[in-house]
Amino acid sequence: MEEVKEHKAHAKTPKKGVVIAIKGLKKSFGKKEVLKDINLEVHSGENVVVLGKSGEGKSVTIQCIVGMLVPDGGSLKVFGDEVADMNAEELKQLRMKIGFLFQSGALYDSMTVRENLEFPLTRVLKLKDEHEIQERINEVLDGVGLLDSVDKLPSDLSGGMRKRIGLARTLIIKPEIMLYDEPTTGLDPITSREISELILSMQKKYKTTSIIITHDMECARITADRIVIMNDGKYIAEGTFEALQKSKDQIVKEFFKDIS
Ligand SMILES: Nc1ncnc2c1ncn2[C@@H]1O[C@H](COP(=O)(O)OP(=O)(O)OP(=O)(O)O)[C@@H](O)[C@H]1O
Ligand SMILES: [Mg+2]
Repeated sequence: MEEVKEHKAHAKTPKKGVVIAIKGLKKSFGKKEVLKDINLEVHSGENVVVLGKSGEGKSVTIQCIVGMLVPDGGSLKVFGDEVADMNAEELKQLRMKIGFLFQSGALYDSMTVRENLEFPLTRVLKLKDEHEIQERINEVLDGVGLLDSVDKLPSDLSGGMRKRIGLARTLIIKPEIMLYDEPTTGLDPITSREISELILSMQKKYKTTSIIITHDMECARITADRIVIMNDGKYIAEGTFEALQKSKDQIVKEFFKDIS
């Protein structure tokens, strides 16, 4: 992997404990080798952005992290434990610590915003205290700036607002790790920027460790402490936005070509 070292010393986040450790990860579907040799360490409190062309296997990688897909080889540890070795109960415990904003993250259309947010609290965390439930809903809605939408239905909200509610629904369980799969796809540039800034403020507020998959370079610029670039089943470069922007590597340059 090309490491752009000059800027590493200035990385925004100091190195802390390793939360996600991936070594030599492999995953094929039939004859198609998608992940060939993925190596990545994500440190506590860090925002790592993964850039890569469509179909590279970015979503597959994060599905391996939550144990939705089982890798064919290599090692993938979260909080020090090998995900592939976890039993159903251990996986359930792990998933309670991980917020996963799906690429197609949809809300329940027949439920109000409040009901959408109650769902993970009562079904996942099994909270019973109504006061605590409503407090958490208010806190997270305040965080995404949509307190006044609590009794609305998703169909009454704009696309950007629905994304915010989706983010709130993921954050409400106070996950230690956040996995964002294309959080700004399909949004206009202004709303994309708002969501990116929200991701950054959530990192600061909740001290979450995050992987953010995106094609949106503005999102990468705003949210990333560190960027890794995926190409042909491997990560081929890593560094800060500013460092990678100066890279001479042809594949890396391709991602930054429209950036001023
Ligand atoms: N469950 C699955 N079964 C079979 N093939 C799969 C499965 N999941 C993903 N793939 C294949 O793996 C490859 C990588 O898919 P993935 O969704 O990870 O790409 P991606 O990098 O997230 O792309 P995009 O940027 O378009 O979201 C694709 O060729 C896809 O068809
Ligand atoms: Mg994807």
